Amino acid sequence: MFDFENNYSEWRENKLTHKVSQASLKPVLIADPSSLSDAELALLKQHCGQNNFALYRFSDSNISEKSIIATMARQFSMYELDQNLCADNDSISSLEVMDLGRAQGYIPYTSKALNWHTDGYYNPLSQHIRSFLLHCVRNAAQGGENMLINHELIYIQLYDTAPSLITALCQPDALTIPANIENGVEVRSAQSGPVFYRDPSTNTLQMRYTARSRSIQWKQDKDLLRAVDIIEELLADSEYVLHYTLQPGEGLVCNNILHGRSAFTNGNIPQQQRLMYRVRSYNRLFSQIK
Ligand SMILES: [Fe+2]
Repeated sequence: MFDFENNYSEWRENKLTHKVSQASLKPVLIADPSSLSDAELALLKQHCGQNNFALYRFSDSNISEKSIIATMARQFSMYELDQNLCADNDSISSLEVMDLGRAQGYIPYTSKALNWHTDGYYNPLSQHIRSFLLHCVRNAAQGGENMLINHELIYIQLYDTAPSLITALCQPDALTIPANIENGVEVRSAQSGPVFYRDPSTNTLQMRYTARSRSIQWKQDKDLLRAVDIIEELLADSEYVLHYTLQPGEGLVCNNILHGRSAFTNGNIPQQQRLMYRVRSYNRLFSQIK
């Protein structure tokens, strides 16, 4: 296994050779999500090892019980789940348009576009989201396309432009997210951290990023600001950006790669009200055998 720092050129070559293209994007078929076959697991593991993500499709698209999604997630090593502010008691969030309650102030619970980000970029590094799963229960009438890019490919493009850009992004105070205050009460403290870093528990390259420009602070460092501009350009126009609209019974599982979502329009019938289940975990995919 090559390392992104110690064997950069071999690691780079390996990543570029095995990167998936838009034309070759294909979900792995899953017959029984409660108990995946060795072949299904091996294929998903291979996709995640090469591209940091995999798409899957249930043979029976009507299967959508949360308990089954949770059982499937454990087979991907997603054991420690993140209980975020809007998750249900089972740590699975139901992402749908919410007109009432706490979730309504958060863009994932609206039909608006979601700009590029990694999940939990506002978490302390001790609670970094190493993987997440999105399962489509219902689709919108229009829109709701996901855009994806393996962050390792962004690392490669920046490193090949100038290694100093990577050094700048690895600074521990590169990106600061101010505290989250709800009704005068601090529900999360300010978080400073790097954009790229080596995860100490898995020794792999992780990314922490948001494309939002309000309520975040970039360190005012020349190389860093240049790197941020280049990331923006890459995300706007890169052959490595993939697009996929999940259909009912399909899902995405990934090592918290960079992603976003286009705006969508729900239809007038219940079957066209977009609903996604989201599971977030502190575990990297296929990192543990239990
Ligand atoms: Fe997200």
